[in-house]
Amino acid sequence: MDDLGPLLISITERMSREKKRGQVADYIPELAKIDPNQFGISVALADGQTLSAGDADTSFSIQSVSKVFALSLALTRRGADVWKRVGREPSGDPFNSIVQLEADHGTPRNPLINSGAIVISDIILAARDHVEAVDEVLNFMRNAADDDNIFVGPAVAKSEQQTGFRNAALANFIKASYNIDHAPEKTLALYFHQCAIAMSCRQLAQAGRIFAFGGRKGVDGHALISSGRARRVNSLMLTCGHYDGSGDFAFHVGLPGKSVVDGGILAIAPGIASIAVWSPGLNKVGNSHLGTIAMEDLAVQTGWSIFGEH
Ligand code: DON
Repeated sequence: MDDLGPLLISITERMSREKKRGQVADYIPELAKIDPNQFGISVALADGQTLSAGDADTSFSIQSVSKVFALSLALTRRGADVWKRVGREPSGDPFNSIVQLEADHGTPRNPLINSGAIVISDIILAARDHVEAVDEVLNFMRNAADDDNIFVGPAVAKSEQQTGFRNAALANFIKASYNIDHAPEKTLALYFHQCAIAMSCRQLAQAGRIFAFGGRKGVDGHALISSGRARRVNSLMLTCGHYDGSGDFAFHVGLPGKSVVDGGILAIAPGIASIAVWSPGLNKVGNSHLGTIAMEDLAVQTGWSIFGEH
């Protein structure tokens, strides 16, 4: 892939010229402060190389991309029992929908929307203090990324906790439906902290290798999760990873991916690469505006797609 480095630079240059950059999320005060004029991209390859361009070493809170790693941990711990508590269908609704949860009697539609991720946090918590469970998620991210320099951002964690009224409503409704074992505030404490883990595109692309290479951090090495679980998490990223923009992302980019409210996207080209892009301005369905354009550009120019040639 000799031309990949120059390709990332040319995509980054094109993105820096774009006037329309989307709107930053402002429902969490700490996220509203992010400068929208940033763009980073990293691609982690099977041979251990990671190529990057732009603001690829600037940290941002990984928000909902933590949901795919937390799901992997929960599946490793509880296997198929996880699916007794959360579904596997796309939601077609906003990620924090309360109406849908009530219609589904407290069983969240999938683990990549907030209600589903809260149930997954409850599974990971397993009667421990939330601090211990946060450490487990953090260590999993550090191990996957091969980088110990990954921490929870305290300001974002606090901001999430102080303004997470919809998440509290979801957690309380799930508790009332007997699908949460712990006190809702304990389960939410883990959820808020995992959302606030700060990582750069480079670190995120490196962590995403476990989904690109059958649970391994490259073609060699031991598996952090089983290949079957990596495949299943990828299937959920494809169908549910971009909220109600999931169909469009599959249509235009053709790769499983998870998008987050502060503009990050992790996408997986199975057997080839893990890709992270970050640009904080969002499009009308809440996915990174420039990040989505850049992912399509990269997929078209490299020919990476799970559906066939671009
Ligand atoms: O729960 C929230 O509001 C955020 N911390 C999670 C945001 C996110 O990226 C949405 N994704 N499903």
